[in-house]
Amino acid sequence: MTKAKFLGDLVARMTVEEKAGQLNLLTGAMDSTGMKDSSGLEDQIAAGRCGAVLNVFTPAATRKLQEIAATTRLRIPLLFGYDVIHGHRTIFPIPLGLSCSWNPELLEKCARAAAVEAAAGGLHWVFSPMADISQDARWGRVAEGSGEDPWLGAALAAAMVRGYQDAEPRVAACVKHFALYGAVKAGREYNSVDMSRREMETTYFPPYRAAIDAGAMTAMTAFNDIDGIPASSNHWLLTDLLRGEWGFRGWVVTDYTAVGELVNHATAADERDAARQAFAAGADMDMVSEAFVKWLPDLAKSGEIPAAGLDAAVLRILDTKWEFGLFADPFSRCDEALPARVLGCPTHRDLARLAARESMVLLKNEGDLLPLPKDRNIALIGPLADNRRDLMGSWIADGDASEALSPLQGFQEIMDDRGSVTCAAGCGISEANADLLATAVRVAEQADIIVLVLGESWKMNGEAASRTDIRLPQCQRRLAERILATGKPCVLVTVSGRPLELSAEAGKFPAILHAWAPGSEGGPALAELVFGDAAPVGKLSMGFPRSVGQLPMTYRAKPTGRPFDPGNHYTTQYLDCPNDALFPFGHGLTYGSLEIGPPEIDRPEMPPGGTVTATVKITNHAPHPVTETLQLYLRDLVASVSRPVKELRGWQRVTLAPGESRTTSFPITDPLLAFPGPDFQPMVEPGEFEIMIGPDSASTRSVRFTRTAE
Ligand code: NOJ
Repeated sequence: MTKAKFLGDLVARMTVEEKAGQLNLLTGAMDSTGMKDSSGLEDQIAAGRCGAVLNVFTPAATRKLQEIAATTRLRIPLLFGYDVIHGHRTIFPIPLGLSCSWNPELLEKCARAAAVEAAAGGLHWVFSPMADISQDARWGRVAEGSGEDPWLGAALAAAMVRGYQDAEPRVAACVKHFALYGAVKAGREYNSVDMSRREMETTYFPPYRAAIDAGAMTAMTAFNDIDGIPASSNHWLLTDLLRGEWGFRGWVVTDYTAVGELVNHATAADERDAARQAFAAGADMDMVSEAFVKWLPDLAKSGEIPAAGLDAAVLRILDTKWEFGLFADPFSRCDEALPARVLGCPTHRDLARLAARESMVLLKNEGDLLPLPKDRNIALIGPLADNRRDLMGSWIADGDASEALSPLQGFQEIMDDRGSVTCAAGCGISEANADLLATAVRVAEQADIIVLVLGESWKMNGEAASRTDIRLPQCQRRLAERILATGKPCVLVTVSGRPLELSAEAGKFPAILHAWAPGSEGGPALAELVFGDAAPVGKLSMGFPRSVGQLPMTYRAKPTGRPFDPGNHYTTQYLDCPNDALFPFGHGLTYGSLEIGPPEIDRPEMPPGGTVTATVKITNHAPHPVTETLQLYLRDLVASVSRPVKELRGWQRVTLAPGESRTTSFPITDPLLAFPGPDFQPMVEPGEFEIMIGPDSASTRSVRFTRTAE
């Protein structure tokens, strides 16, 4: 039987209650990811009041619920979704860390490995990628996204969708949080958003759009309101834009209890009204509120929501179930022998090690202190030095801290017999401890070199983890002072889920390596970089501020009417802090550096539809290979709307052999020059453009060309 016939017949046989049941997503108890639990899950499934389940995984647990679904009148199987954000059992670096690889192929592979493991764990659906751009490191959820830049974010979101969906066993991706969640005011979690349509189109929409264009099967609404209308009941957003303009063919799930929360937003009078508004706006599935299952039958019978709309939503969900082969075999992902072969397998662990290496960013390396020799006595100090759980980050799905490797384990594995490593915590993550501090100072005094591993716990970032103070916790700052006072060479390794305010540390430590939350293989990957078995390649996808007072901030600033001029008081600036980042977007050092020549162009003018090719000559003077990510930025010098002073429009990772010289080209075409026009469609205006190329957003060299009208 064809899919259309099978599903058409099925919907025709469904009662309105059974239809509403398909649109109800309930949570199990294997994880807790929201404010409310779903009571009587098994009874609800048995009553045909549940179409999908989150927070239940493993073949055995999903089989048990699938068996219950098989006893319902129409035997419609369940779909299982979960927050597989950066791996299922094998935990990759947090997404913000992964994004610092600037390596879409790598993210695609990590998503693929996560899909293979999630499928082995009984799942069909992952709540990823999070495509929210954010310019505010106070927001804890920057950990889950790809940073501040729409061009980079779009490439990475699309890569993740391909990784999840484009091979078997696939899982349905869920692009979230639609939309603009990364712009919550003051970086405060669950806060509101207000933004111009131009800023949406220019900065915030591109990554969601790229994920949709890559075929994301589902999208999740955001908790925030936009210009007063909550995302979960926003018809313009979910229907006119997403389905209409962008041509989205999948289905929309609300975020956790977001339908019920329309009452808190005070745009719905009660839960019934909330269900009506969310459904009418274009939400297909209700996550945990149970407002759809409770009220849609009544709303459909009274004609307040159209019967055809209900059928369309149900068909979208059933279509996904068909695509996963669930009608043919609801237990196809319930093979209990599979997890042992797949979860945490060596191939995935190797990929996690590679990803962890590529995600770490060398922020500073004065006097080439790094890499360290392996034959010295190293003091490895700090509350994160022998820590596994916090290095995995938030959202670890089926991850198991006992399977992760700490920095200490990594150091022990890599050092040779002539050297030694002694570890001391010095303090807790947020708690001072005089005895631990004294021991750490003693250990440091006896060492040749100190590596201090400081930063955030996993609970200090991610959901519901906004901070107004994004410095290292006070006890760790004190530990750092005491260790620096020993006068020994000291490397700072920072672990966090957000850019930190590291101004004090940057003034004192000769070398700083930012490790993010690097995942299951974080410890060994860190050791490889510290001891030079591999060189850092990571580039910041989000700048590190000098002060939390600069936030939100982005390198993609507009020029303003009074561009900063150090000699003029009446220009845009702070009295007490420079405007720019401490470590800017795109920054990341490696061992050695390339000489990067000035950009040259093959022609001074570019006609519509034409190409100007920018080239730079790069040379490696180091006695070892050097890898650099060359970044292309553009500026539209005069336009009908004020345009950013620079915007990323491409990058290339190049590796040069010792002594090698090479020319790298960046072809520039109209799509790279376009910006949203009056109707918000991409438009190119003729005129002068500046091309900037360099190893980060702050150290570029430039050349200009003219885009002609004909
Ligand atoms: C709320 C979060 O905002 C969302 O990202 C997540 O997927 C759901 N909870 C489910 O856990």
